[in-house]
Amino acid sequence: MTVTRRTFIRALGLAGGAGAAYEAMATIGLAPRAGDDPAWAPPARDARAAGRRVLVLGAGPAGLAAAHELGKVGYDVSVVEARTRPGGRVWSVRAGTEETDLNGETQRCTFAPGHFFNLGATRIPQSHVTLDYCRELGVEIQPFGNQNANTVVNYTDAGALAGTSVTYRAAKADTFGYVSELLHKATARGALDDVLTAADKEALSEFLVSLGDLSSDGRYLGSPRRGYAREPGGGTDAGTPTVPYPMSSVIRSGLGRNFAFDYEYDQATMMFTPVGGMDRIHHALAERIGADRIRYGTAVTGLHNTPDGVTVDVVPVAGGPVERLTADEVVCTLPPHLVTRLDTNLPAAVLAAQRAAKPSSSGKLGIEYTRRWWETDERIYGGASNTDRDIAQIMFPYDHFHADRGVVVGYYSSGARQRAFESLTHRQRLAKALDEGAAIHGEKYRSDIASSFSGSWAVTRWSESAWASWEATSPEYRLLTQPAGRLWFAGDHLSHAIAWQHGAFTSARSTVSALHARVAGGA
Ligand code: FAD
Ligand code: ALA
Repeated sequence: MTVTRRTFIRALGLAGGAGAAYEAMATIGLAPRAGDDPAWAPPARDARAAGRRVLVLGAGPAGLAAAHELGKVGYDVSVVEARTRPGGRVWSVRAGTEETDLNGETQRCTFAPGHFFNLGATRIPQSHVTLDYCRELGVEIQPFGNQNANTVVNYTDAGALAGTSVTYRAAKADTFGYVSELLHKATARGALDDVLTAADKEALSEFLVSLGDLSSDGRYLGSPRRGYAREPGGGTDAGTPTVPYPMSSVIRSGLGRNFAFDYEYDQATMMFTPVGGMDRIHHALAERIGADRIRYGTAVTGLHNTPDGVTVDVVPVAGGPVERLTADEVVCTLPPHLVTRLDTNLPAAVLAAQRAAKPSSSGKLGIEYTRRWWETDERIYGGASNTDRDIAQIMFPYDHFHADRGVVVGYYSSGARQRAFESLTHRQRLAKALDEGAAIHGEKYRSDIASSFSGSWAVTRWSESAWASWEATSPEYRLLTQPAGRLWFAGDHLSHAIAWQHGAFTSARSTVSALHARVAGGA
């Protein structure tokens, strides 16, 4: 018998378990080893880096990762950051957070101790290097509920179901049920005979009966998957089943418009998040880099390539004189549209490229409730309800289950739906969010509120945007992946994972590799 690689690995799996099989695959190059990042070959510690000063602009994920990795190689790294905290658009809002937005309004967060919400980054897919940094830095993670069968969809334009809150489990059961029934019918009537053999049809029918929970004659008549009006219990109590909506209502309502979210590449289960807030990663990175190497509250105002290196003009945000810093190399991770405002001798094409990365709108509002009504009244433990209203979604806390309070994200919207909140005062934002939320989860949505806090990234100082909107294939993008003299760029906008920390981290890593390759090459 010929032993192929596949039969060998299967046999090994049977004998030694999945771990042994996986290790064997990794050894012969069929699977990555845990922690492998094929795009990243970290430069080793190198004497040629010693004494070479690199100044990193910005202490967001890209700046911190760049500083951390450059430090490992042996560079003399320091970081300049305008905010008084690390993380940039990774911002966990908790008691003590104070922010004055560009509308001129100051908010102070008064959530109870331990409670918070992530106004920027909140979830991490399994594939992202963000998890590798959590592992490396010892940042504890926990599952993040990105989807929940008990949360609801509620769309104002859903025909007969307009304004009706339908649980995801019922919406999915009815949508998959009817779609399966229709395809089953079409197949049985011979509508697909030109593409399916008799055996194909049989296999498809079997799959559809399972997908849609169809009766033996291929009809969707409702399903326990929809949930119960009254839960089944002990003895003879079979509970009260729910009744499916009519086929036409379900098809025309578009109840399924958000179903694909659950299996998008970067939003699929399992998702993770650091215990205690996403900013834990960035505090841990800052600690590794060293407090003495990061200057917070210091804004970059000027940037010039010189024959010997780079000069960077900085000014204390709290007020004070301009200071000129010098470095052999600079890694700039400032948001691209903000780079164009600096006093700089960057080539016009580089500035035009920074301008091409267009800013965008997104924001969130956290509402601290003193009663976890979503758990007690609706059996919701994490996940989000979705709507076509401006709030877009209501995200339920993934932590503090069964506590006496919790912070619900009352909106997380982007684009035009976020612009509807952007210029409002916080009170007005809250009022609008409560109106829209009450239309979905009922009048209880307005009660038991202790405090709240909101932010809109387009009017948040030092960001003025949620994420860059542009194509990674554009010539402008490619130009910024190259250094301008001794000035290098990094940030999630220079990655194929815009709006993800993974993008910022991988961009920083490529910049570190390229910078060191040039230094090591003697240039
Ligand atoms: P930034 O984080 O923007 O860092 C840039 C830094 O430069 C900031 O610290 C800023 O203060 C500083 N700076 C700006 N101007 C100056 C100046 N003149 N002088 C000195 N410093 C300056 N990612 C995920 O992984 N998961 C998520 O769930 C997720 N959700 C998100 C939701 C929202 C609403 C937003 C806005 C982002 C989300 N992200 C998420 C994306 C993630 O936050 C970004 O990808 C990441 O923060 C980008 O890092 P960066 O270092 O490139 O930029
Ligand atoms: N990556 C961001 C999120 O998951 C946009 O919400």
